[in-house]
Amino acid sequence: MVPPDAAATDQERIIRYVKVTFREDLKMTRTIAKVIASTATALLLATTTNAQDATTKTAAPQTTIDPHALYEQRCGSCHYEHGADLARKKLKIVDGTIRIARTGKAVESLLAQHHGVTLTSEETAALVGLFDIGLRSKGVFQKHCALCHTSGVTFTRKSIAVKDGRLYARKAGTEIGPFLGQHSRATPSEIELLIEMMKYQLRTKPKT
Ligand code: HEC
Ligand code: HEC
Repeated sequence: MVPPDAAATDQERIIRYVKVTFREDLKMTRTIAKVIASTATALLLATTTNAQDATTKTAAPQTTIDPHALYEQRCGSCHYEHGADLARKKLKIVDGTIRIARTGKAVESLLAQHHGVTLTSEETAALVGLFDIGLRSKGVFQKHCALCHTSGVTFTRKSIAVKDGRLYARKAGTEIGPFLGQHSRATPSEIELLIEMMKYQLRTKPKT
């Protein structure tokens, strides 16, 4: 400890000494902490994957792919940051099928041969689901909410919970539907779209 009556310069010298002495130790501790953290994460992943396998066998089929993350990893480097933006710019729904707006080709057949992209059929289906919700929600979040809440998927997954098919603010416990009527300028039909979009974002939320 620094003696209370030590001159300012003494204090500075002591602080410098302590910093130098512990810097190496600190580096070491951080490295060890990283190793421990990654081991723990790996273990956690292994156990949750097992738990998920167990639940998917009993419960209704549930997607294990996070379409938002998949889009970011596999498409985002060449395209818009958000899948919904790509969908609105390049795709459209024709008779319930998502097609390339320019050519009318089904999006699945485009992706089957597309700039080195390799997707399993589950992954393609997950992306199609993402584009579908992106097209149908028509940028309502961007229009009415993004100014204050930035990203729809991040905000929803962090702040909103689903219970018995209804959405609630995680912290306050307020039900979202009626709340949004007062909270924003979104119309009732826009709120319906938002709620559908949020349910989708929660349904596809990674379990870890
Ligand atoms: C390595 C870069 C690259 C990656 C990765 C990539 N794309 Fe593309 N994509 C392109 C280029 C370049 C074009 C425009 C030229 C073309 O149509 O091939 C394009 C065009 C498109 C179009 C519009 C096609 C049209 O005819 O209007 C869609 C839709 C599309 N990509 C979807 C995707 C999706 C979904 C993914 C992720 C699974 C993806 N792309 C990954 C490079 C890429
Ligand atoms: C002008 C800014 C603004 C706009 C626009 C806005 N919000 Fe909010 N919102 C806030 C603020 C501020 C809070 C309170 C923040 C908090 O509780 O941490 C909030 C809280 C919320 C909550 C409760 C979250 C919680 O943790 O309690 C939800 C849900 C919500 N907003 C959804 C929306 C949606 C959906 C839209 C678009 C239809 C929207 N908001 C538009 C500013 C805004």
